[in-house]
Amino acid sequence: MVIMIKDIRLVRFCFMLVSLIPLVSLAQSPRQITDFNKGWLFTLDDNSSYAKPGIDSKKWRKLDLPHDWSIEGQFDSTHPARNAGGALPGGIGWYRKSFTTTSAGKKVYIEFDGVHRNSEVWINGQYLGKWPYGYTAFRYELSRWLKPAGQLNTVAVRVDNSQQPNSRWYTGSGIYRDVRLVVTNKTAVKHWGSFITTPDVSKTRATISVEHDVEQDGKGALKFISTIYDAQGRKVGEASAATARNEKHYQILTVNQPQLWSVNRPYLYKMVTKVFQDNKWVDEYSSTFGIRYFNFDVNEGFSLNGEYLKILGVCQHHDLGALGAAYNESAARRQLRILKEMGVNAIRMAHNPPAARLLDLCDEMGFLVMDESFDMWAKKKNKFDYFSDFPEWHQRDLEHMVKRDRNHPSIIMWSIGNEIREQFDSTGITITRQLVKIVKDLDTTRPVTCALSESDPAKNYIYQSGALDLVGLNYKIDSYKDFQKNFPGVKVIASENVSGLASRGHYDMPSDSLRLWPSSSQFKYVENGNPDYTVSAYDNVAAYWGVTHENNWWQVKRYKYMSGLFVWSGFDFLGEPVPYPYPARSSYYGIIDMAGFPKDIYYMYQSEWTSKPVLHLYPHWNWKPGQLVDVKAHYNNADEVELFVNGKSMGRKTKIDTAFHIMWRVPYEPGEIKAVSYKNKKQVLTKLIKTAGVAYRLELLVENKIIDSKKNELAFVTARVVDRDGNLVPDADHLVKVRIEGSGVVEGMDNGNPADTNSLKDAQHHIYKGLLLTMIKGLKPGPLKLTLSADGLQPATTLITVK
Ligand code: GAL
Repeated sequence: MVIMIKDIRLVRFCFMLVSLIPLVSLAQSPRQITDFNKGWLFTLDDNSSYAKPGIDSKKWRKLDLPHDWSIEGQFDSTHPARNAGGALPGGIGWYRKSFTTTSAGKKVYIEFDGVHRNSEVWINGQYLGKWPYGYTAFRYELSRWLKPAGQLNTVAVRVDNSQQPNSRWYTGSGIYRDVRLVVTNKTAVKHWGSFITTPDVSKTRATISVEHDVEQDGKGALKFISTIYDAQGRKVGEASAATARNEKHYQILTVNQPQLWSVNRPYLYKMVTKVFQDNKWVDEYSSTFGIRYFNFDVNEGFSLNGEYLKILGVCQHHDLGALGAAYNESAARRQLRILKEMGVNAIRMAHNPPAARLLDLCDEMGFLVMDESFDMWAKKKNKFDYFSDFPEWHQRDLEHMVKRDRNHPSIIMWSIGNEIREQFDSTGITITRQLVKIVKDLDTTRPVTCALSESDPAKNYIYQSGALDLVGLNYKIDSYKDFQKNFPGVKVIASENVSGLASRGHYDMPSDSLRLWPSSSQFKYVENGNPDYTVSAYDNVAAYWGVTHENNWWQVKRYKYMSGLFVWSGFDFLGEPVPYPYPARSSYYGIIDMAGFPKDIYYMYQSEWTSKPVLHLYPHWNWKPGQLVDVKAHYNNADEVELFVNGKSMGRKTKIDTAFHIMWRVPYEPGEIKAVSYKNKKQVLTKLIKTAGVAYRLELLVENKIIDSKKNELAFVTARVVDRDGNLVPDADHLVKVRIEGSGVVEGMDNGNPADTNSLKDAQHHIYKGLLLTMIKGLKPGPLKLTLSADGLQPATTLITVK
């Protein structure tokens, strides 16, 4: 609907009034970017009238974005997403938000970073368009349809995630990433129209090239002033001349003595470009970037800034456990922190572009990134998945991924797909070439890869296209040995590995025989699994296409030409609960459980991937008297480790190259086990585990006691069930209730058990294997008193400050 104002004098008057405000703020920046996440209305039903302005929305729920309605539902095997999709509801939902602008004469855009899926958007009843893929960012121009200053505009968004199954994992539903309102002049840098590269980098000098893609209104000459600031905000480079070709303008800048971006020192610069037309300041565009160079070599693997570096990565899906797919920066930061402490230096965004802010965090925290576009092309993996959108939409989706993300120093490769069906027939050749061209037209500074599951070059048509810069090999570790023979002159990364399975804190003996669960492609689920849906955490269970973590790491470690790996997976994620049927609803693949508690294998990686001293001893020490127990340890920075059972030495042991643990098989007797690591006969570390007595009290560990409500920060509180002496009770499963005094809410609770069907949004949840995570959100500044209690246990209290 277009608002017509007939009296031209009134139009001029309104125009004058509304354009006054931007003029006054012009000294700030001609480009205004407003967080548009707050104050939306939501309803989980469908009616075409919801697109119209002025409807009665009194009963709609008020909420802030990012939002995922699926995670608010109950787990149930009958949901059409099935347990592979997380056993949570899909459906159709609508969002509305009303707002005023003072932006006449300007261009106003609404930008969505991701809506799952099939979104359609209206402004004041006027249809703007649809966007099927749930993982790419897009925007609409609103300007033509906006009302004069002071009058309310209404944006309405319909999200349709009803056709299921449409994914092999949990997707979430809704506007689950950021929304922004962007106001520019008519002459302005286009959407993602500033592209920064660092074509020449040395220790003493870096050349920075920037391409500005500008939408120009009128013929007035354009001028660009680009300034580079270092991390302290000091000006370190500037350019004012630009060369122009078509709508693009190019500038070259120099930074002397550049601080290179690396995984250990992720140094970031900022470029601010001011655009002038006829000497009038018309736009300002800022981008964060890093100065670094890297190389993949056929024989030597990967190097960053000229130094060899093994890519030590994990695959991560986009959900944040109990928060579902709704992006939350503090939860994402926590995941990355836990991964960093393990020694991870790379993330594969499986299998779709992530939230933009997650890439900002990777830039800031020092992770290399494989940015990935699709899990399928035109051949489907699920009845309603993206395959049907692929023909019409893949070009836009792929372009949007590359354009949105190409200034991130963290990204070192583009992946055009994961285990794509077209690798098995000749259609793979054509599509691969087409997709690679789409990427290369936008960025030639990073290799294009694809995660392949067919390791026979003769049978793999994606490989045969000859268009990949880097082969991504999923699993098939036995093919590494002859890789250079079978793929002469080809660069390679292990794009996905392992698929080991484990429940945190559960152990099945013996630890040294591998169980394949399920055992072959004949079976969907494990044939004789555990009745309580547990899987042993000794690194002795894998899906039949997988291997143990240790075996896998040895194969990647030993060949330098294997530039690195991405373990499946870093964290457990919602959906794909191999090897069990419902009630299992989330994965067992994680090195870290969904609540963020490391499984034991975490410390194997930490001992290999970091240089900080590690000694990890497991399992717990509560068994049946006389039972033979496998006691394992992961360690580093030491020559040997000695185990003591109730003070008696069980002998000293040393790791061998192909195994990254040591193990003693000892009869259980209550008391304690102690491990001592030695270097040059001197003690390095000791680890003690005592037999736990009766569960006595709850104990709370708060990761961050001060949270900022404006930034949507969450407090992460771990509850442990301990005996009178403070020992963790390893089988505790009490139901814990949360009470909050002050202005705060429980945002999610999770115990890391993939088969727990309690809603993850309830303010009560069971302990699992002694642990439980509670995430608290502060609503208003002030103190929060948090009390967790359970029948039969002493409660625990903690204080959190909300800023
Ligand atoms: C891979 C696939 C992943 C995940 C994994 C589970 O083949 O690429 O998305 O399904 O298997 O083992």
